[in-house]
Amino acid sequence: MRNKLRILILFLIILISGKGYSANFPGNKELMLPADEDTSMVHAARNFKSICASCHREDFSWFAKRKWKYGKTQGDIYTSAKTGYPEFGMPSFKKRFSDQELKDLAKLIYTKLEFNIGENGIKDLDTRRIVTEKLNIRLDTVITGLSSPWGMVFLPGGDMLVNDRDGQMFRFRKGQKIAQIQGLPDIQVAGQGGLLDLRLHPNYKKNGWIYFSYSSCSVSKEVGWNTTLMRARLKKNTLVDKQVLFKALPETKVGYHLGGRITFDGKGHLFISVGERGNGDNAQTLTNDCGKIHRLNDDGTVPSDNPFVNQPDAKKSIWSYGQRNPQGLYYNTDTDILWEDEHGPKGGDELNIIQPGKNYGWPVISFGINYDGTILTKDTAKVGMEQPITYWVPSIAPSGLAFVKGNRYPGWEGNILVGSLRFMYLVRCEMEGKTVTHKEIMFPNIGRLRDIEMSPDGYIYISVEDPGIIFRLVPVP
Ligand code: HEC
Repeated sequence: MRNKLRILILFLIILISGKGYSANFPGNKELMLPADEDTSMVHAARNFKSICASCHREDFSWFAKRKWKYGKTQGDIYTSAKTGYPEFGMPSFKKRFSDQELKDLAKLIYTKLEFNIGENGIKDLDTRRIVTEKLNIRLDTVITGLSSPWGMVFLPGGDMLVNDRDGQMFRFRKGQKIAQIQGLPDIQVAGQGGLLDLRLHPNYKKNGWIYFSYSSCSVSKEVGWNTTLMRARLKKNTLVDKQVLFKALPETKVGYHLGGRITFDGKGHLFISVGERGNGDNAQTLTNDCGKIHRLNDDGTVPSDNPFVNQPDAKKSIWSYGQRNPQGLYYNTDTDILWEDEHGPKGGDELNIIQPGKNYGWPVISFGINYDGTILTKDTAKVGMEQPITYWVPSIAPSGLAFVKGNRYPGWEGNILVGSLRFMYLVRCEMEGKTVTHKEIMFPNIGRLRDIEMSPDGYIYISVEDPGIIFRLVPVP
C-alpha cells in the first residue's frame, strides 16, 4: 500500500513537473501538460510565499537588491536552495522539497528577476506613457497586494469586487481594500483551482445576483474536485441567498484545466467553461461536463433549446465540446457572438467562435504538439470539427478575453484583447468581421496577465498575478 502511494505521488510529481521528465516517456499522451506551466509556477509561488518569503520578503526585493554571493542563474539559485548555507542562516531545503519543486522555485525567482517584477509591478517599464501602435497608454496601478486576481467586477456605486484565486473575495473602494467578503463556500484551492471568475447579473441593480465560479469537492479532497458555479447576494459584505447552480462532474484530483469563465448573453442565459481536467477523452464525450462550454438559464436550469437536450445520456447543459482549457469567454451582445480562448498543448492555443452543438476538436485535431516534442495528432482539421479563428504557436497561454467598446480608445474599437499568462503581455487583435487581421503585443513583461474587464465608465482594467496587481489603461497624448 505504502509503495503504491509512493509510486502514485512520484507519478503525480512527474506529471506536474513537465519538461525535464517527459523525455523519458516519448509519445505518452498522459503527459500532455498544462500549456502555461501554470501549475508548477503557481505551486512554486505558494512555496515561496509560505517558506522562503519569511526570510526573503514576498516581493522578491531581497533578491533584486542582492549582491549575489553564490550566483544568480537558475542553476545557482537551485543549488543555493538545495544545499543551503546553514552557517549563514540559510537552511537546506533538500528534504523539504522535491528536486522538481526546487527547480521550479529557482525558475520562479529567476523569472521575477529577469523581468524585474517588483512590489508595484514592472520596474523597467515607465508606466506613465507607453507607446503602442495606435495609442499612448498610462498604466495606473489601481490595486496591489493580491496574489492571483482571477475575476473582477464593478459594483454600481463604483466599488470593485475582486476574486483572489487563493480563496478570498475582496471589496475595494478607490483602490483601498475596505472589506473581505464573508460567507464564501468551501473552496478547494489547489493547482489551477480556487476562487475563479466573478460576474454580476446583467440586471444586478434590480436583483442583486452575483455569480462566481470556484473549484469544490462534493465528496472529499481524496476523491477530487471540479468547477462549480454559485450565485449569491451581498448583504453588508456577506454572501447570502447562496445557490449552487452548476457542478461539473466527474471530479478528479488532477490540479489543472478547470476553465471557469462565466459570461451572460443578456437574454436570460449564461455560459460557463469547464476544462477537460487533463483527460482529452472527456472533451469528446457528451456524458461528462469536462472540456465543454455549458449554457444555463440565469437560475441554473437548463434552457429547453440547448443542443443536446434530446440526446439520451448527454449532459443537457452542454453548448459546445472538444475544448481543452477554456480560460477566456466573452459574449459580445452587440453581435450575439460567443468568443472563447483556450490553451492548446505545446502550441495550438486557440481563439474560437463558439456555436451550439459544435465540436472544437480537442484532442483529435490541434495545431499543438506534445510537451515532449512528439506529434500529438497529425490532423489540424477534420470534417465535423471547428477551426479556430486564430491560433498561437508557440503557446502564449491565453487567459482573459474582452472586446474594446466605447470611445475612450480611438483606433481600438471592436478589437479583441487577449491576455498572455506565459509571455506576460496583452494581445490586441484587430478584427475584420470574424477575421483577425493584425495582432499587436502590448506591455511585454507586465506580469502573468489573467483577467481583462471594461469598467462601466469605459476604461480597460487588466489583472496580473504574483504579485497580483490590477492596472487601469488610460490613453494619454
Ligand atoms: C530562515 C531564513 C531563510 C529561509 C526560510 C530561506 N532563506 Fe534563503 N537565505 C537566507 C540567508 C540568511 C541567506 C544568505 C546566506 C549567506 O549570506 O551566505 C540566504 C541565501 C539564499 C540564496 C543565495 C543568495 C546569494 O547571494 O547567492 C538563495 C538563492 C536563497 N537563499 C533562496 C532561498 C529559497 C528558494 C528559499 C525557500 C525555499 C529560501 N532561500 C529560504 C535565509 C533564508
